[in-house]
Amino acid sequence: MSERLLADEAATCAFGEALARALPAPEGCPLVIWLQGDLGAGKTTLCRAILRGLGWQGAVRSPTYTLMEPYTLPHPRISEVLHLDLYRLGDPAELEFLGLQDWLGQPALWLVEWPEKGRGYLPPADLLLTLTPAGEAARRLEMTVWPDNAHGIAADALP
Ligand SMILES: Nc1ncnc2c1ncn2[C@@H]1O[C@H](COP(=O)(O)OP(=O)(O)OP(=O)(O)O)[C@@H](O)[C@H]1O
Ligand SMILES: [Mg+2]
Repeated sequence: MSERLLADEAATCAFGEALARALPAPEGCPLVIWLQGDLGAGKTTLCRAILRGLGWQGAVRSPTYTLMEPYTLPHPRISEVLHLDLYRLGDPAELEFLGLQDWLGQPALWLVEWPEKGRGYLPPADLLLTLTPAGEAARRLEMTVWPDNAHGIAADALP
């Protein structure tokens, strides 16, 4: 686990863009990032920065009500991104109705906010990011690379 302080929103955005540059290409199965933290912690802000880092120039809306939002990018390594926000999921089993099965075999990047709401029905994470408020605009970021992550991401390969 590594930890850092993101002093303000600009620091969170810079980190997200740097992370996007460091991510490997998803291979065979989704490359999964879980984003944890309370309401307003900055999960969507970070997802937006990752998408921008991958070249997305349009709007990134929080999929609060739709639960999922797919993106197709002109990026050489990561061309499909699925942004999920499971906060409003009543029961993890409801994930079966979102059509995620079709995505499970695809090499897409998954950005999952509120993964704890989908426990048992989500693919395992390659990377876990946890945001906690630390003062007025600062956030503490904990970054955990799953030891058995499918993509073999090494902690020292990340920003
Ligand atoms: N260092 C920071 N990093 C990220 N966001 C920050 C930071 N400082 C202030 N903010 C503000 O905190 C808010 C974060 O909102 P955001 O929607 O990203 O949170 P969230 O974790 O996705 O919440 P939710 O659980 O409701 O989806 C934004 O209004 C943003 O401007
Ligand atoms: Mg959010």
